[in-house]
Amino acid sequence: MKRMTVPQIQARKGKDPIVMLTAYTARMAQLLDRHCDMLLVGDSLGQVIYGLPSTLPVTLEMMIAHGAAVVRGSYHSVVVVDMPFGSYEASPEDAFRAASRVLAETGAAAVKLEGGEAMAPTVDFLSSRGIPVVGHIGLTPQAVNALGGYGARGRTNAEHAKIIADARAIADAGAFSMVVEGVLEPLAQAVTAEVSCPVIGIGASAKCDGQVLVIDDMLGMFERTARFVKRYDDLATRIEDAATRYSEEVRARTFPGVEQTYQPKD
Ligand code: KIV
Ligand code: NA
Repeated sequence: MKRMTVPQIQARKGKDPIVMLTAYTARMAQLLDRHCDMLLVGDSLGQVIYGLPSTLPVTLEMMIAHGAAVVRGSYHSVVVVDMPFGSYEASPEDAFRAASRVLAETGAAAVKLEGGEAMAPTVDFLSSRGIPVVGHIGLTPQAVNALGGYGARGRTNAEHAKIIADARAIADAGAFSMVVEGVLEPLAQAVTAEVSCPVIGIGASAKCDGQVLVIDDMLGMFERTARFVKRYDDLATRIEDAATRYSEEVRARTFPGVEQTYQPKD
């Protein structure tokens, strides 16, 4: 299997749904790679891997370290790395410097950045200089302080119109795809119909051009997740169960057994 390309993703608009999951480590990337079209090294790693309270403290160095690991673990999917808060907003030039480091130091094919109309000049600056950009609109977690929480977006007419305008702006600026997160379903469908690039939904609509979920969420690693997360497994319970059995066997001195110990040859 050859690695998929950005133009191949673009060409999927309105066709076969695009399958995307987050990955933060090489081994998880290996396991997910053949099932996905794109792997996202999300700045959700702040909470998922590092136990941070939000994505805001995530650094470019963290994104580069995990981005490189995911590229090493994959050979099929387009790897997209999130631009962390503070690395791209101040100017298109700042964004280019940070994004070019991401591509050069990880081997990923594309970056993702949050924001609509205000970020359109930056999307244009990057994409016209050889850096493929995925947009991210609707519920944008890096703006949690401005939005006042992680609630669904697009409940008022003004918010609905603003998010449509955001989608149009970053699509016109050259984003090759965009994530729309945490919006009312009719708005997700309107965004998907509005732009000519593939729209990847999360908390959006099955009618988007693709879907993404945070891998640890869909595997059931957390007790509480957003309403839009579907759990495909209950790994937290399974891990605790394994740790329980291990601790019992250590305390009972039944582990290690004969199979796990080296005996002298006679
Ligand atoms: O950081 C992340 O995991 C994301 C997805 C939820 C879209 O941005
Ligand atoms: Na993100």
